[in-house]
Amino acid sequence: MPGQTNRSLRPAYVKSIRRKLLAWYHRNRRPLPWRTRPSPYGTVLSEFMLQQTQVSTVIPYYQRFLKQFPDFQALAEAEESDVLKAWAGLGYYKRAINLKKTAERIVHVYQGKLPENPDELRKLPGFGEYTTGAVGSIALDLPLILMDGNVRRVVGRLFTLGGDLMTGDGKKEIQNLCIDILDMDHPGDFNQAMMELGALICIPRNPDCGRCPLKPSCMAYKSGRPEVWPEPVRRPSLRKVHEIALAVFRNRRLLVLQRPNNTSFPGLWELPRMDDRRAGGNDMPTPNQVLEHLVNIHANGGDIAELGRSRSIFTNHLIDTTLFGIPLRPRVRIKRSFHIHHQWLKINKLDDIPSSN
Ligand code: ADE
Repeated sequence: MPGQTNRSLRPAYVKSIRRKLLAWYHRNRRPLPWRTRPSPYGTVLSEFMLQQTQVSTVIPYYQRFLKQFPDFQALAEAEESDVLKAWAGLGYYKRAINLKKTAERIVHVYQGKLPENPDELRKLPGFGEYTTGAVGSIALDLPLILMDGNVRRVVGRLFTLGGDLMTGDGKKEIQNLCIDILDMDHPGDFNQAMMELGALICIPRNPDCGRCPLKPSCMAYKSGRPEVWPEPVRRPSLRKVHEIALAVFRNRRLLVLQRPNNTSFPGLWELPRMDDRRAGGNDMPTPNQVLEHLVNIHANGGDIAELGRSRSIFTNHLIDTTLFGIPLRPRVRIKRSFHIHHQWLKINKLDDIPSSN
């Protein structure tokens, strides 16, 4: 019975979920620094850091960042390069740039205080649906829901949901259930409790139902196989692609190329890259061959270093990317006759160009 949902929830059922979840949270929550000394600024900072990074990684960054930039004012007045330095290692640097822009807006437009209107919050740089719900509920007590992977799993199991919960009807259904069960008197604690339950008890593979406060209310538990919920979306099998991407530096600037008109995403900027589809079934080219092919320059092979690997899914392709760093000597030039548009971009300007990343 996939996706079976109890649509009209009984008030007593909802009340018991709220009561048991909050009681569990107050006894079991981790003493995370943004919880032990909460502030609106600390909430914004922690939620930006937690957008794409695990709690354990975030903690020391959060503490250092807070010491260096203790409030919205300090962050608004800081040099962007210092902010990026404090963020170094956390990745997804767009978050740091947006966080600083948000601090500037809060100081200059809202007299140093978070706006209490969800529509205004949502317009702050870097505030997507999730962050608006998190900051609004935790810092301002606004009755907003939030949806992250943990919440999706907890609610997906409570109501044995299945299919695509990220878009369309599936998303609407899970959002409505979240709205129904949200404790409007304690929205911040309720949302954090849902995330905490998903992080500590209602984990993906082996949920610890024996210790779960919501066990008596949980349809997945009753099904006997809680771990299979929420039922995953059936995806067509993915075709594997190997790709090389190049971080080519010259004078501390990064080379970016503009995608030509006859490709997907024409006009967007990206790192020089090539995958094995383009190599036409031959062996993957070396980083230097990719560089030569794309921009007709040759680097000193000894200086080329592998920087890391990542995996992404695009349409029906599973793309394994290996990123190589290539420092070039200051005088190296790309020939003017070269047909692909290129730029040498300062790292902190990466956010200013349209890219697909
Ligand atoms: N992940 C994102 N925000 C969180 C929070 N406030 N507590 C725990 N995990 C989180």
